Amino acid sequence: MSTATGKQFDQGLVNTIAAETQMSFIDGEKGILEYVGIDIDSLARNSTFEESTYLLWNGRLPNPTELAAFEQQLRAEYELPAGVIDMIRATPADAATMHTVQTLVSSLSLFDAEADDDSPEANIRKAIRLVAKTPTLIAAFDRHRKGKEIIAPDADRSIAGNFLWMLRGEEPTETMVRALDVCLVLHADHGFNASTFTSLVVISTLSDLYSACSAAVGALRGPLHGGANEGVMVMLNEIGDMSQVDGFMKGKLERKEKIMGFGHRVYKAYDPRATYLKTFAEGLARDTGNMPLYEMSTRIESIMHEAVADKGIFPNVDFYSATTYWSLGLDLDLFTPMFALSRMSGWTGHCIEYLKNNKLIRPGAAYVGPHEVPYVALCDR
Ligand code: ACO
Repeated sequence: MSTATGKQFDQGLVNTIAAETQMSFIDGEKGILEYVGIDIDSLARNSTFEESTYLLWNGRLPNPTELAAFEQQLRAEYELPAGVIDMIRATPADAATMHTVQTLVSSLSLFDAEADDDSPEANIRKAIRLVAKTPTLIAAFDRHRKGKEIIAPDADRSIAGNFLWMLRGEEPTETMVRALDVCLVLHADHGFNASTFTSLVVISTLSDLYSACSAAVGALRGPLHGGANEGVMVMLNEIGDMSQVDGFMKGKLERKEKIMGFGHRVYKAYDPRATYLKTFAEGLARDTGNMPLYEMSTRIESIMHEAVADKGIFPNVDFYSATTYWSLGLDLDLFTPMFALSRMSGWTGHCIEYLKNNKLIRPGAAYVGPHEVPYVALCDR
């Protein structure tokens, strides 16, 4: 449908290419995801979140010296400003986690003298701060709401290792650190998904990175986007055990209800992020006594395969990340914040990339209301 202005109406922007990027490439038909040309499976198997972030921001993998320097820059920014810690202590213990993350990400701007400096150098420094501090604020809020002492970040640890340390206050195992790190690599970027696009809309007005990223957190929390991983776990808990899976799925499919963790706007093949995550979730579930959960998941997958694979609906990244996070002992409402923590790397990278050739994002609307309606005075209505 074309509108009065001659523009094409494209509901949900399904067929619209909004900008160019060199960060990630997706072929939804073939199930390919690459960060700067490198396939996601190789990165998940061999890389770290820090290295993948360097890759996304710089367009190439770092050499060992560059990686060490980059890790140092991030670690030097783990700590939160005292004012943000005060805000965390003032946050209601029952506040929803994603609302809290959004508010706290935004609050970082209040304590950054460079918040409104939009030079490329300042933006890189702010991107580093956002990636480095988001794990700290999530862990600090979780400790606060549980009435536990907030644990200071440890600059000798990786982002994944430090996060688990701050959250639990005890030494995480290497497997746990690696599992979280893999999840962070897999979630770091994904083209112009809804939250990334949100961040671009904000930055395109020449607003600032904190505003762009806090808006992106707001977009991410919706159940059709990042909130789905929590939805998967809610579903698995609701099902209860293996004996209930078939009946539950039959009912859902008959009622044509959506199954969380399946389907994707772009992928009409198996989500390549889910491939490795599935293997990883299995190993972790075995190590942590959560095999029943994993087995329920694979049964759901095979029922879905029979029912809807011909429509191009397969597990997406959220499906097996739910089992992974649960096996890591994370609370349900920390699942989506994990996504935010990782995607901060993509949001900031895309904003900085977009600003190199900025154009205000401002689509048209297809007006479908009436015209030439006479104005009726208030006293006559
Ligand atoms: N379960 C069952 N059927 C589904 C599912 C699903 N999860 N997803 C899509 N379908 C069906 C729809 O019912 C529809 O069927 P119909 O043509 O017979 O009406 C068809 O597939 C197309 O679905 P749409 O929702 O129109 O596809 P769209 O591209 O707009 O949606 C989306 C993609 C939102 C991700 C959708 O698949 C969904 O809601 N999935 C569940 C939520 C989820 O897992 N979200 C996470 C996405 S990944 C991420 O953000 C990291």
